[in-house]
Amino acid sequence: MMVVMMLTVILSACNSSGNGSGSGGGAVSVGIVLPTKDETRWVQDEQRFKDALSSTKYSTEILFSQGSSAKEKENVETLINKGIKVLIICPQDGAAAAAAVESAKKEGITVIAYDRLITDTDAVDYYVTFDSLAVGAAQGQYLVDHAKGKGQPLYLYAGAASDNNAFLFFQGAWEVLQPKIVDGTFKIANSSEAEKLKDTKELSRDQMSAIISQVTTNWDPNEAKNKAQTHLTAAAADMKGDIAILAPNDGTARSIADVFSADSAVTDYVITGQDAEQASIQYIIDGKQSMTVFKDVRALVKDAMGMAVEILDSKTPETTGSYNNGTVDVKAKQTDVIVVDKDNVKKELIDSEYYKASDFTGL
Ligand code: BGC
Repeated sequence: MMVVMMLTVILSACNSSGNGSGSGGGAVSVGIVLPTKDETRWVQDEQRFKDALSSTKYSTEILFSQGSSAKEKENVETLINKGIKVLIICPQDGAAAAAAVESAKKEGITVIAYDRLITDTDAVDYYVTFDSLAVGAAQGQYLVDHAKGKGQPLYLYAGAASDNNAFLFFQGAWEVLQPKIVDGTFKIANSSEAEKLKDTKELSRDQMSAIISQVTTNWDPNEAKNKAQTHLTAAAADMKGDIAILAPNDGTARSIADVFSADSAVTDYVITGQDAEQASIQYIIDGKQSMTVFKDVRALVKDAMGMAVEILDSKTPETTGSYNNGTVDVKAKQTDVIVVDKDNVKKELIDSEYYKASDFTGL
């Protein structure tokens, strides 16, 4: 009798901690899937999620996909088996992630795309994002505002074509740069496709693809470095001197800047970035990177978790607009961005307590 009673107690305890899902482990309410630890941006997000999660009553789990859509799908399956009700996911590849979120959707899970849109599926409920067109526009505008004279060589670089954001950033930048290419302020140094399209302000997705396929970094600093080296080797003397460089984010900006600053025929350069990565803030202080677009990840995390909690509490989250993902209009909540350079780095990043002054030298 005693043995039977003890077994019953043990078995019922197992059931509740396993959530009846059969995979073991505790029940999880919100699953978070981030693309890779190899890009500093997502390590920032992990930390900001951890900071925010300490105050929530709901259980959460963060998994990384390590740059692989297959691993990403596996992560989503793991979280489904842990009984999640809400999935917050930043896809490695926007189109490939459709299959993963479709299996979540089948289980009645609410799907929130985080920072990067998941494309070509109706299985995305919400999208929390920064204003990515504004990121690109700010990069382009910075180059225009710091242009010197006429005929300045312009080097273009872009993100990974598997990331919808890469198109938004490029589009935002191109719309600002294109009139300045037409009026002779800039001359394109490294893309025959961009040169062919220089009279077109509003590029189609296919036209952008043609340019991006020539100047993509794949978000990989090494690939960016190799491309920059190849471009400088091929460049004629009139494509050196004082130049402008559209670099899509901080990781690639630092490696491109290193290549250009090592070329003695490059006398000066202005280079963009985004993410306000700590290493790039040091580059900005040191005069090696010109600007970054600060995307306050604390705000994005707050929006994503706020939305998840509202869904768990059976409320309808507030949204501010929508993004078409090729199949449906996904309701979106969008956050603004801030341009940071040497002049306002202290105010925007130290005074706002995003970083500590002691994280840097020469501030
Ligand atoms: C993000 C950027 C990031 C890039 C590479 C983009 O989708 O919006 O912040 O730098 O991916 O990780």
